[in-house]
Amino acid sequence: MKKANLVLLPGDGIGPEVVAEGRRVLEKVAARHGHELTFTSHLIGGAAIDATGDPLPAATLAACKSADAVLLGAVGGPKWDDPRAKVRPEQGLLAIRQGLGLYANLRPVRVHPSLAGTSPIKPERVEGVDILFIRELTGGLYFGKPRLRQKVDGHTRAVDTLEYTDEEIRRVVRLAFQLAGPRRKLVTSVDKANVLESSRLWREVAMEVGATFPGVKLEHQLVDSCAMRLITAPKSFDVIVTENMFGDILTDEASVLAGSLGLLPSASLGDGPRGLYEPIHGSAPDIAGKGIANPLGTIMSVAMLLRHSLGLEDEARAVESAVDAAITAGARTGDMAATGEKVISTREMGAAVVERIP
Ligand code: IPM
Ligand code: MG
Repeated sequence: MKKANLVLLPGDGIGPEVVAEGRRVLEKVAARHGHELTFTSHLIGGAAIDATGDPLPAATLAACKSADAVLLGAVGGPKWDDPRAKVRPEQGLLAIRQGLGLYANLRPVRVHPSLAGTSPIKPERVEGVDILFIRELTGGLYFGKPRLRQKVDGHTRAVDTLEYTDEEIRRVVRLAFQLAGPRRKLVTSVDKANVLESSRLWREVAMEVGATFPGVKLEHQLVDSCAMRLITAPKSFDVIVTENMFGDILTDEASVLAGSLGLLPSASLGDGPRGLYEPIHGSAPDIAGKGIANPLGTIMSVAMLLRHSLGLEDEARAVESAVDAAITAGARTGDMAATGEKVISTREMGAAVVERIP
């Protein structure tokens, strides 16, 4: 029996709808296995800006710091998108990743056999794809200083900074090697070392870490050719480790292999067991409130939460198997459906998974 204190951060757009289904899955698992899970909900993103003026109120960060794990929906929306706005919902997301020290973002991309035909890529190329992306999450362009806007000779100049220390690179690359061990033992380190100084440091550190894992093969790939290989030969990858923004872009690209962005989960981890779990999709304002969003990215994130923060591997697998079985049985939200296939709602998809959890 496990006791755990979980914080829910529904956020904006479809966030509350998908988090509600994630919670139902957790409740079912807890009831079946006699675990005691307590839930509290807190504000983040646009909803938090509206209520408090702050995209990450101090009370939210404090609650997350004393939680065993955090489940987040999504942040952002047109209401807060004015480029001149001083506060933005996305700042809440970046601040919580940084505030909890979550430097490694795990984004597994697997293709369910019955969805291989849904991808715009040829089915024989995507069938059997199983990639684990590890995106560095608290460094690089997202956090580098200086970051500014200034007037120079009558023109406006804007600056973002791409910076990494050796230790920031080392800890995330080390995790990639650890996770590749029980998999197919191949780490692809993605950089732009032919142009960027930070990438040359990245490559050096990756080689240094790689030397301490003789059982795992290390290869380097430039980010532009990696983007191409993801489409032409996605099965040739096992674990991909890369800096923050390259990882942001490549994982959206890779979601096309799985058939829908709505299917993909993520776990953001630091040095301890506490983690932040969220689907990789955004707040999808165009479909928010309609009850048609795909909750599977969130539900698969719940499986990662059970595994990485609560140490409940069997329960994590039970959730993943229930998702697989629901998809095999033909459960499809609109984003996953081929023409003519029956489409079900967010709530029905949640129920299709819950009823398959043994
Ligand atoms: C993601 C998102 C975020 C990011 C945005 C919403 C700030 O795109 O989690 O991939 O860029 O990290
Ligand atoms: Mg992204």
